[in-house]
Amino acid sequence: MTPAEQSAASLRVCQLAPVVPVLVIDDLAHAAPLARALVAGGLPALEVTLRTPVALDAIRAMADVEGGVVGAGTLLTPADVKAAKRAGATFGVSPGATDALLKACEDEGLPLLPGAVTATEVMVLLEKGYTVQKFFPAEQSGGAAFLKSIGSPIPQVKFCPTGGISLKNARDYLSLSNILCVGGSWVAPKEAMAAGDWAAITKLAAEACALRG
Ligand code: 3PG
Repeated sequence: MTPAEQSAASLRVCQLAPVVPVLVIDDLAHAAPLARALVAGGLPALEVTLRTPVALDAIRAMADVEGGVVGAGTLLTPADVKAAKRAGATFGVSPGATDALLKACEDEGLPLLPGAVTATEVMVLLEKGYTVQKFFPAEQSGGAAFLKSIGSPIPQVKFCPTGGISLKNARDYLSLSNILCVGGSWVAPKEAMAAGDWAAITKLAAEACALRG
């Protein structure tokens, strides 16, 4: 799958809703109800980070949830890409980008949202054909002001920023013409998951969904 084809697929994912939940799942039993709660609140695109032992099984469990579009985050190596694809992830997200990771996504046919944080990193990915990129860690790297500035010389690259974004500052990003959506973990707090309070998560998702529109 070429970088251009990957970016076209990433664009579709990023246009589903203003927020992509970034999920850290510790308990496999949480995966399906969590996905249902987020989809019910209006957030269908879900990023499951490969940061816990159950992450791949969580992707498998969530892939069956109606209306959900499940991807794998924290992809660092070609092995991560293979495992994510095998688990049923339909898109991938990485904090940065290496040649080995990009090649694995091309070979495996997994649309990647590759991370970039400087003008040069953005340009290197653009040169390869990636027009949809992740900006991470967003708040720590200059936030919405940085993205607004980079939109002047490089307007053809669109971003999904993540890192330090919440209901409070999401609009600062979403109001920019080069921002497709934002990613964040605030819609799936650990406490609500531990308590099985799926209604609370649906409410957070609905608030996030209402950020645009
Ligand atoms: C991450 O990689 O953890 C994401 O960027 C989410 O960051 P957040 O927890 O600050 O929303």
